[in-house]
Parts: sequence; C-alpha cells; structure tokens
Amino acid sequence: MELQALKELAAVRAADELVNGGSRLGLGTGSTAVFVVRRVGMRLAAGDIKDVKVFCTSFQTELECERLNIPHYGLNSPELAGGLDLTIDGADEIDGKNRLIKGGGGALLVEKLAAYNSGRFAIVADESKLVPHLALRFPVPVEVIPEARLAVSRALERLGAVVTLREALRKAGPVITEHGNLLLDLLFREPVEPEELEKRINLIPGVVENGFFTGPRGGWIRPRVYIARGNGTVEGRD
Ligand code: A5P
Repeated sequence: MELQALKELAAVRAADELVNGGSRLGLGTGSTAVFVVRRVGMRLAAGDIKDVKVFCTSFQTELECERLNIPHYGLNSPELAGGLDLTIDGADEIDGKNRLIKGGGGALLVEKLAAYNSGRFAIVADESKLVPHLALRFPVPVEVIPEARLAVSRALERLGAVVTLREALRKAGPVITEHGNLLLDLLFREPVEPEELEKRINLIPGVVENGFFTGPRGGWIRPRVYIARGNGTVEGRD
C-alpha cells in the first residue's frame, strides 16, 4: 500500500477506537496526525461524537481545525484547565519499548506539553517509523533559545551527539520555532539511553525542550502505538 494510505489507516483506527464525545483531546502535528484531525472533524460533522474540546499542538493543526470547523481551545482555557483526557500524535521514530523521537515538524515543545498532560497518549504511524534504537538514523531535535546556540551545541557534543542547526527550507537561515527559538538536530553514533538523555539534555541552561519522549516522571506512561503495516493491517501495541 502507498505510504499516505498507511498513515491514514493508522490515524482512522486510533481516532475511531479512542476518541469519545465530551473528551478533552490533544491533536498532534505532521503528515500522519493530520489524518486524525480530519477523522475527528468527520465524526463531529456526522454527529457521531459531540462536544469534543480540542487542543492543537501547532499552527498547522490549528489551521486544519479552522478549515474543518473543529472548536479548539488554549490549554489555559477554563474548558481544558491545563489537562487533556487523550492526545493522539505522530512520531519520527518508535523503539521496541514505545519510546519516541518527535519534532521532525518542529512542534516538539507543545507536543510534549500535550502528551505529558494527558490521561492517555497514542501514536499513529506507518511501520517505517519502527527502529531498534532511537537517534541513530533520524535526529532528535533540541529546542534552544537563540543566545544559547553555541554553548548548548558544545554541551551536546560532550554527550556524544553530532549536532546540526536546522536550516529553513523556503527562508534563508535557520528554522525559527513557533516560540521564537532554534532547533539543534542530534544524531548519535551508538545506541543511547533515551530516558537518561531526555532528562540530562533538559538540564543544560538554554535548552527549552528535547524530542525524546519516554514518559513523564521516569517513564511510567508510554503511548499506545498504532502501526500500519505494508499489507494494510493496523497493529495496536501497548
Ligand atoms: C512534529 O513536530 C512531529 O513530532 C511529528 O509528529 C513527527 O515528525 C511525525 O511526522 P509525520 O507524521 O509527518 O512523519
């Protein structure tokens, strides 16, 4: 099956299985998560679910919700009051313990805010995202304030990372995140311990957030992962 079709399969399965009326729902970012947004929009329009209060993890998701007339709220609004029942998002890499790399689309900061403040967290992906070890092939992003670019790069190199400043595509110079920061993309030459690195990286002054998702408070909450296989089946894995 074609890649786009696989992304949609995983997204539809998760949106149908997990999203209930009345829930506070975090919607992720990227080319797979957008199919979740569309499925939720379709179910709302059909009256199959009602009164879903959506939180958007990026400008991209917000625009898609606007287009589909899906009501959305800030995380500080009285409707959401800082918490969510469920977040569904995509991922760049998923290891055998459902630990993740996210942030290929640059939205890691708000994506982590949503995921780590949700009662349940689910990931939708095609099987190309499955890896034995994180950050050897796809870089893990680190969001830094602009003033900290070089100091943080040096500190990350001391942790064994090969560091690249993320360049923009249709703009000269670096990517500027939705919060006015820069992104450093890290690759490692040998397997790393994601839980430990997720915490250590965030202790470096100037770092805002990093794209390892191993769960809040030492990893006790891991996502349910919906993986679409090339043969058209979707596996739900806890
Ligand atoms: C956005 O910042 C990311 O975390 C995405 O969820 C991730 O990059 C997966 O995106 P795709 O579904 O487009 O591969």
